[in-house]
Amino acid sequence: MSGIYFHIPFCKQLCHYCAFHKSISLQSTNEMLDCFKKELELRKDYLDQKSISTIYFGGGTPSVYKPEQIQMLIDECSKYWNIENDAEITLEANPDDLSEKYLAALKNSSVNRLSVGIQSFHDEDLILMNRRHSGKEAYDTIKRAQAYGFDNISVDQIYGVPGLSMEKWMENLDLVYELDIQHISSYHLMYDPNTVFAKKLEKGQLIEVEEEESFNQFKYLIDSARQNGFTHYEISNFCKEGFISRHNSSYWKQKQYLGIGPSAHSYNYTEREWNIAHNYKYMKAVTEGGEFSEKEDLNFYDRFNDLVLTSLRTYWGLDLNLVKEQFGDDLYRHCEKKATKYIQSKHIRKENNSIILSDEGVFISNDIMSDFFFVEE
Ligand SMILES: C[S@@+](CC[C@H](N)C(=O)[O-])C[C@H]1O[C@@H](n2cnc3c(N)ncnc32)[C@H](O)[C@@H]1O
Ligand code: SF4
Repeated sequence: MSGIYFHIPFCKQLCHYCAFHKSISLQSTNEMLDCFKKELELRKDYLDQKSISTIYFGGGTPSVYKPEQIQMLIDECSKYWNIENDAEITLEANPDDLSEKYLAALKNSSVNRLSVGIQSFHDEDLILMNRRHSGKEAYDTIKRAQAYGFDNISVDQIYGVPGLSMEKWMENLDLVYELDIQHISSYHLMYDPNTVFAKKLEKGQLIEVEEEESFNQFKYLIDSARQNGFTHYEISNFCKEGFISRHNSSYWKQKQYLGIGPSAHSYNYTEREWNIAHNYKYMKAVTEGGEFSEKEDLNFYDRFNDLVLTSLRTYWGLDLNLVKEQFGDDLYRHCEKKATKYIQSKHIRKENNSIILSDEGVFISNDIMSDFFFVEE
């Protein structure tokens, strides 16, 4: 099971919370497509398998490209790999790009999963975030996509946002449930450095929500999602039966993947590689045969820490038998020892020798994961 990720580094407008790599200068979109083609060719031997089960167009805003251009990239992949018949092919899209015309053309492409950035259905939140669409437009977009036959739709939402009261958050979720979609990604707002939100926070123009409010919103999210038929399978991800994001799960299950485009990451069991997060430098290097990525060889402890980080995020949890098999008795005992205190505090439960975060544990997952990491002295 291998996947290919394309990072589309363009957006039409900058959202005030977002630190993902992107440019609002759209002049080089065509040139960038040529570079993607070139990078695919250069890295055709990166994966040790010739079969691809997922392709993910993320960003930035992949829907700045026409469906025909997205299909061209998929066809380009099939020159080097066998794309499995039931491959999951996801396009991240902004609601304002999904017009009737766009959806009709996209339905004729191989894209079979949409991930739509809704964020909130309340206009005042969307204005604060500097989004390009209203709440109603976001709602209508999902309906329109369903009318065009898209039956594997995910929405992104953000909670813990200043001004998003519990009541408004409940309304956001109710609308999502009413839309009868297959997957939800719900993120707590992060004040990433160099974003407008982080600057506003520093100047006191935004005030972080209280931890109790954040916890209540998260708790409502997981309880209501369960009541509405969703499985909470990863910290921020919920799906109806059969609709786990196969692409993202392969990150969490430590499968290999190839990342194409500026800032994209790749992983092949022994090393991680990340492309330069700069459109011009990336394009110049790809075109002229220069270096466009950096690499890190993963040592024994890096690989252990990666396993902790990726598996504790999920409802499958950290399989202690696997730890023993791959990393030996010392790290097995290290995990057992760490788990004991969290089992007592009810942040972790143990099932079939796997340790799994409880709802309370998920809320402090970063602290728990760092505690499990093995740091060489
Ligand atoms: C890489 S973005 C691309 C999505 C698409 N461009 C859009 O905006 O609709 C994926 C998602 O990450 C989430 N996100 C980005 N920055 C975030 C932040 N600082 N805090 C919480 N969620 C964030 C948003 O929900 C966003 O939809
Ligand atoms: S949230 Fe999406 S549209 Fe907004 S800046 Fe980030 S990648 Fe671009």
